[in-house]
Amino acid sequence: MHQFEISDLITVVEPGSGRRLPVRRAEVIERLLESGDERGARIVAALPADEDGVLDPHAVDRLLIGVHTELQRLSEELRIGERLVHVLGPLLTAIRSVGARSGPYRLVDVGCGLGYLVRWLAATNALGADVELVGVDLDASLVGEADRLARAEGLDCRFVHGNAFAMPEAATVYVSTGVLHHFRGPALAEFFQAQAASPAQAFCHFDIAATGLAPIGAWVFHRARMRHPLGRHDGVVSARRAHSDETLLRAAAAPGIRPLLYEPRGTANPFGTTLRPVIGVRPHLEAPLRLALGRAARRLVGPEHLAEAAR
Ligand SMILES: C[S@@+](CC[C@H](N)C(=O)[O-])C[C@H]1O[C@@H](n2cnc3c(N)ncnc32)[C@H](O)[C@@H]1O
Repeated sequence: MHQFEISDLITVVEPGSGRRLPVRRAEVIERLLESGDERGARIVAALPADEDGVLDPHAVDRLLIGVHTELQRLSEELRIGERLVHVLGPLLTAIRSVGARSGPYRLVDVGCGLGYLVRWLAATNALGADVELVGVDLDASLVGEADRLARAEGLDCRFVHGNAFAMPEAATVYVSTGVLHHFRGPALAEFFQAQAASPAQAFCHFDIAATGLAPIGAWVFHRARMRHPLGRHDGVVSARRAHSDETLLRAAAAPGIRPLLYEPRGTANPFGTTLRPVIGVRPHLEAPLRLALGRAARRLVGPEHLAEAAR
C-alpha cells in the first residue's frame, strides 16, 4: 500500500510559480485513511484549520520548521557533512583535474530544507574557496529560515526559493540529502534526467539505504530524538519508502551520465549503513574520480556490479 509522509501532503505549491495553495484538512485525512494510515490521520486532525477547513498555513510552516530543526540532529549524528565531503572532495578534484570547467564551481543542494548541509560546508570551508554554495527549496518558509540562520552565523552561502532545476544559473554539482525517496514512480527518473540535461558535471544524492533494519533504526532514532508526532511518523515512513540500490542505479542512468553507487548493500555493515549516495558523473570523470578516491574507489560500483552480485 502507498505510504504518505504527512509533510508532503500539508504543503502544496504550484510547480511553476512556487505559489502556496490552500490545503483542505479533510482531504489530507481522507488520503491517509485510504492508505490505511489511521495514526497519520489523527496527527493531521489535530492541526489547526479555518472555518472552511483549510489548514492554517502559518501553523503548518511553524510546525515544519520545528520538525526540520529536530531533523538537523539526524544530519549531525550521521555526520552527513563529513560523508558528503568524503566523496565530493575527490569528485571536485576530478572536475578540477580535467579542466572541464574552470572555477568557481557551483554546488546546488536540491531541497535544502533548513540548509544544514550548505551551512555546515560554509562554516568548515571543507570544499575549498572556489566552490560557491547554494541551497534551493520549493518551500518558502524553510528556505527563509535557512537564510536567516546563515546570516546570523555570518556564513558565505546563499539560499533560493524555487525549483532547483529552473534556476537561471547552472550548477556544477547537484547534491541532496533525504530527498530521493520523495520522488515516486516516473518522477525519480525525471529528477535525474533534469540534471543530465543541464550543464552539470555530476550529482551526488544521499538517501536512506533500503536495508531491512532501516525502518527499525528510524523508529528508534525518531522516538528518542524527535518530539512532534509528525516528525516521528514521517521519519519511519521515509525509511520504509527508501529506494533500493537497483532502483536508484536504474533511474540515475540518464543520457550522458555514468551512474554509480557508493557503499551499496552487501559491501557495508548493515548496522552502519544509514545513508549512502547515488552518484552520477559525466563518463570522462569516472577514471579521475576513482584516482582521487584512492583505496575508497573499491566501494564505488556501477550497475554491472549489482547484476554480477545478483547472479
Ligand atoms: C525531506 S525535505 C529534506 C530537507 C533537507 N535536505 C534535510 O536533509 O533536512 C525535502 C525537501 O525537498 C524539497 N524539494 C523537492 N523537490 C525540489 C526541487 N525540484 N527543487 C527544490 N526543492 C525541492 C521540498 O520542498 C522539501 O522541503
